[in-house]
Amino acid sequence: MAPSTSSAITLNINGEKYTLPVDHRTTLLDALRERLDLTGSKKGCDQGQCGACTVLLDGRRAVSCLQLAVAAEGRVITTIEGVADGEQLHPVQQAFLDLDGFQCGYCTPGQICSAIAVIEEHAAGWPSAATDDVRPEAGVPALGAEEIRERMSGNLCRCGAYVSIVQAVAQAAEATGTQDKEAVA
Ligand code: FES
Ligand code: FES
Repeated sequence: MAPSTSSAITLNINGEKYTLPVDHRTTLLDALRERLDLTGSKKGCDQGQCGACTVLLDGRRAVSCLQLAVAAEGRVITTIEGVADGEQLHPVQQAFLDLDGFQCGYCTPGQICSAIAVIEEHAAGWPSAATDDVRPEAGVPALGAEEIRERMSGNLCRCGAYVSIVQAVAQAAEATGTQDKEAVA
């Protein structure tokens, strides 16, 4: 008997459980967009290079076009549809609105999901490739423009809204109490 090429899976997305049959080759991005009508996550390159499809998996950012839906079973999945608290926007969403951190908006859901994780990674003391001194005793690097650009470098914006995006991430970090105002030049 030929092995089955599909399975019924249950995904935990934005606090809701979704059970659906999927072909084993279905990506998480396609499951979200095509099967569950969660179209906030965007498909840009479909090969892990643009970040438009970024979601949070157990709080860590991931490009959903490179994740198989079957492998996401049992993970806590957060998409752009789930980052607000009811009518209250997430501080990163609010900062993107306040500072025009977008033009066409196509990359924005991925930028926002990525920025949420960047702020948490920074607050947890994770260094980046732009961090000069990565010794533990050096402490957490300031989340300056160079750090933000490096940490957000997996999210491309074809409109070139990068200046505003960097400012928005800095404002959101400040709003969440993880960043000093003076740190971003
Ligand atoms: S669509 Fe996933 S990284 Fe571009
Ligand atoms: S706002 Fe258009 S691609 Fe970023």
